[in-house]
Amino acid sequence: MKILITGGAGYIGSHVLNLLGQQGHDIVVVDNLSTGRKESLLYGRHEQFNLEEVEKLDQLMAKENFEACLHFAGSIVVPESVEKPLKYYQNNTTNSVNLIELCVKHGVNRFIFSSTAALYGDSAPNGICTEETMVAPINPYGRSKMMTEFMLEDTAKATALNYVALRYFNVAGANVDLKVGQCSPNATHLIKIASECATGKRDKMAIFGTDYDTKDGTCIRDYIHVDDLAQAHVDALTFLEKDKESAVLNCGYGHGYTVREVVETVKRVTGKDFPAAEVGRRAGDAAILISKAEKIREVLGWKPKYDDLDLIVRTAYEWEKKL
Ligand code: UD1
Repeated sequence: MKILITGGAGYIGSHVLNLLGQQGHDIVVVDNLSTGRKESLLYGRHEQFNLEEVEKLDQLMAKENFEACLHFAGSIVVPESVEKPLKYYQNNTTNSVNLIELCVKHGVNRFIFSSTAALYGDSAPNGICTEETMVAPINPYGRSKMMTEFMLEDTAKATALNYVALRYFNVAGANVDLKVGQCSPNATHLIKIASECATGKRDKMAIFGTDYDTKDGTCIRDYIHVDDLAQAHVDALTFLEKDKESAVLNCGYGHGYTVREVVETVKRVTGKDFPAAEVGRRAGDAAILISKAEKIREVLGWKPKYDDLDLIVRTAYEWEKKL
């Protein structure tokens, strides 16, 4: 298949590119390398420009006759979104309007969107989110992504475009063969930061908030291995090809760990100790986010292979040492 991938040099995009490239698809990656790395582009051709450059994108799409678009490009740091909301509405919402419009114009009728569990905010009872849980994001990052989901839903009703929105829970770890991993500069993700501490790249970290209504007072998240998440995209592409329908799907394992549990796991698995100071809450954090994870298995036939926090941590650490 001829595929357009935006943000293919980033953390998740590069893992999906790795899988789709191995399958022999003809891929063009549009990535401005603002957070992605050229070395992560193991397959495909690379066009380096910003998605705001609509004319360039239009020309590329007119030339290439893409059959599918996977849209990863975007800004993802929750606290930054609280401080700079318009950056998030520009990069995540406005750029998506333009991309979706061009997909409709050029007849690219299969669209896979990187959505997020941040859409649920604190609205799920006990933090367990089904796809029917009310979307009520509590930060601009989540709101910017929610608007793109709404646009896709409405566009799919009005045009021939079908889409799969994958609502990612907390993606972590690195490719099990260590071909790609997370390279994001100034990363804010918990497991990445703890791995940087374990390798000595950082001398300390912080645990944000110990007064949440959870078993140990720290936030609970559903950590999913990045290769399993990448496989969900491959399965979504097959679904769009065969079923010609749209779907909104949670992408998580269905159980969670507290921040303290994750930090302890990193220390145990790596055998390294490092200071983790308990400090106040971080802006925009929901207390608990756990996926109700059945629908994606039913709709896509997705079978995760790496539901194991120790393995997630080990791959993150091994990659961090290699970087
Ligand atoms: C958020 C989004 C998620 C998105 C991800 C991308 C929400 C609710 N979730 O995940 O959809 O995919 O960003 O960046 O908006 N923590 C520490 N110390 C640290 C780092 C993190 O204690 O140094 C804590 C956080 O406060 C949080 C948990 O660890 O409770 C996980 O944080 P993080 O890895 O940044 O991901 P989310 O914010 O959950």
